[in-house]
Amino acid sequence: AQGLHDAATAAGKKYFGTELSGYVMSDAEANEIAKNAQDFGQYTCENEMKFDALQPSQDAFNYDGADQIVAQAEANGQIMRCHTLVWHNQVPSWVKDGGFDKNALIEIMKNHIANVVGHYKGKCYAWDVVNEALNEDGTYRSSDSVWGSTIGPEFIPIAFAAAAEADPDAKLYYNDYNCDRPGAKATGALNLIKMVQDAGAPIHGFGMQGHLTTGQVGDASQYVENMQAFAALGVEVAFTELDIATPAGSPDFNQQAADYATVVSACKQVEACVGITTWGFTDRYTWIGDSAPLIWDKDLQKKAAYDAIINAW
Ligand code: XIL
Repeated sequence: AQGLHDAATAAGKKYFGTELSGYVMSDAEANEIAKNAQDFGQYTCENEMKFDALQPSQDAFNYDGADQIVAQAEANGQIMRCHTLVWHNQVPSWVKDGGFDKNALIEIMKNHIANVVGHYKGKCYAWDVVNEALNEDGTYRSSDSVWGSTIGPEFIPIAFAAAAEADPDAKLYYNDYNCDRPGAKATGALNLIKMVQDAGAPIHGFGMQGHLTTGQVGDASQYVENMQAFAALGVEVAFTELDIATPAGSPDFNQQAADYATVVSACKQVEACVGITTWGFTDRYTWIGDSAPLIWDKDLQKKAAYDAIINAW
């Protein structure tokens, strides 16, 4: 195999992909790497498809930033995971501070989903319909979520049903962090998926964000066990935002490479794991500062993780 995506597809997976954003695309040297379909068969928009970006004021939708990323994907034969429809963060103030009651907020949510999923109908392999709806103990997030506190957990099946109506062919995902291994939060995610299924709404996938830390990844078996528990509910799984932080100042890139290989090996072992997306690809552009969590360094040179990932497939 020639690249990260090629190695993943040779192992029977759908894609290896990366998060991408407008500011990375404007760095021509970095964008050359993103455009290489041998390494990346899939993109996720970093911020461009979030609620505040797409509907900054009521009923005024702005698709420009996201459309540019989708256009680059189409030009290079790459698929999109689309992220994200209903999240407690990056919600515009007109929604958050609008004082809407439960029914009004449900209508706002459904209207957003109908417009956005309709705009991208047929272009998204998957949608992260609901993102991060759980607390660390596996209970539903409420106090810090306008959706959870105003509507209650029933916003979740309503969102999935609305997304299915707007694009019946997209895989509809629940996505969250700290659910990569068995534990209280992963159990909460299993329960959330059952809750959506019991409500009669479609749900097809579970996204493990995979924001991990070098040296704390452990072995593949716990990720395998976790993914199998989700697969038993009939959903597919994916690592959707993988990055593996190293301590600033004393990075161990060989350990980091081994940790990337562990995640790849776990995905390889589980048939329901369809792919892996990293949250960016170069340490020049990462949401977690100086932790050098990605596969290319700040000078756009491949780190040890690159070959380790290819070899782990
Ligand atoms: C992050 C982006 O990378 C940042 O640019 C932004 O300021 C905050 O959001 N979980 C998610 C992603 O689902 O959308 C987040 O992305 C990282 C954590």
